[in-house]
Amino acid sequence: MPNIWTEKYRPQTFDEFAGQPVIIKRIKAMIEQQNMPHLIFCGPAGVGKTTLALLIAKTMFGEQWRQNFLETNASSDRGIDVIRNQIKEFARTKAVGTDLPKILLLDESDALTREAQQALRRTMESYTKTARFILSANFFAKLIDPLKSRCVVFKFKPLDFDHIDTIMDKISAKEGFTIDDKAKQLIYEVSRGDLRRVENMLQTASTITKSIEVSHIQEIASKAEPEAVKEVLELAAISKNFSDARKKLLRVMMSEGLSGLDVVPAFQKQIWGLDGVDDQKKLKMIQSCAEAEFRIVEGADEYVQLEALLANFAQSDV
Ligand SMILES: Nc1ncnc2c1ncn2[C@@H]1O[C@H](COP(=O)(O)OP(=O)(O)OP(=O)(O)O)[C@@H](O)[C@H]1O
Ligand SMILES: [Mg+2]
Repeated sequence: MPNIWTEKYRPQTFDEFAGQPVIIKRIKAMIEQQNMPHLIFCGPAGVGKTTLALLIAKTMFGEQWRQNFLETNASSDRGIDVIRNQIKEFARTKAVGTDLPKILLLDESDALTREAQQALRRTMESYTKTARFILSANFFAKLIDPLKSRCVVFKFKPLDFDHIDTIMDKISAKEGFTIDDKAKQLIYEVSRGDLRRVENMLQTASTITKSIEVSHIQEIASKAEPEAVKEVLELAAISKNFSDARKKLLRVMMSEGLSGLDVVPAFQKQIWGLDGVDDQKKLKMIQSCAEAEFRIVEGADEYVQLEALLANFAQSDV
């Protein structure tokens, strides 16, 4: 039995899958009609994109799903040629035990360059007889139009409190711990609808105590927002030392594995607590955070956006 809860509690049937009702309905119909197009699963982390691709494969192929399903990740530095060879190897033969096309899940396909996406599009076309592609992506805007137009697009949403609440209750009953309402609320806020994060926080908290309260979650959540993020902010906004702030931010992001979308909200939370910055400037800093977050979500380069944000904080007369 897997001891990582995100795997242990990965839904094995459509009934266990939380949220995204419109998507589920359409996917079920496609499976039933044996009419599976290429798909794009787009949306934030931990909302069920990989899980749903696995459910499709398990439903279509039953026992033999492993032979007829391939998951590969586009964001590694292997390059598009390696990925294409892997796809070719998988897709050149017919599916085992069925006339249905095989399923190929390409994770983080928005990390591919435009050229690589063009190459991917050609590969998809060559293997349409034997395979269907599911492209998983966090940022829709980073995908090229020719890919979008060849796929049916499903946009996943962050899960809402009720879904997350139900899952927390289920896990706490199975694992034998209790969790109070405030702690649940905080987990929900920190997770921003990402179930992977919810389950990881629960698993961590349950190693500390069997009756989880809000203070335990605060402890875990503040670890997720390192003190170092605050230091970066101080270097930029108070010391006006852009260059050191930038260096420090890069180090923190690398060592803590943070993305731009982790850093910007962490900045936002810390801005009000900054000593030596007047309220007018704090307001402007918060606004700049919102703009940077928007651009990153829309697909702009996160490092460029974060640099611009730090430069903005470091300007003395803002
Ligand atoms: N809709 C859901 N219903 C129930 N559990 C879910 C759902 N979405 C995610 N989970 C839980 O979170 C874990 C991670 O989800 P999943 O791998 O599907 O995320 P993802 O959307 O593919 O994220 P990423 O963008 O990071 O690849 C699952 O193993 C499962 O435990
Ligand atoms: Mg995934």
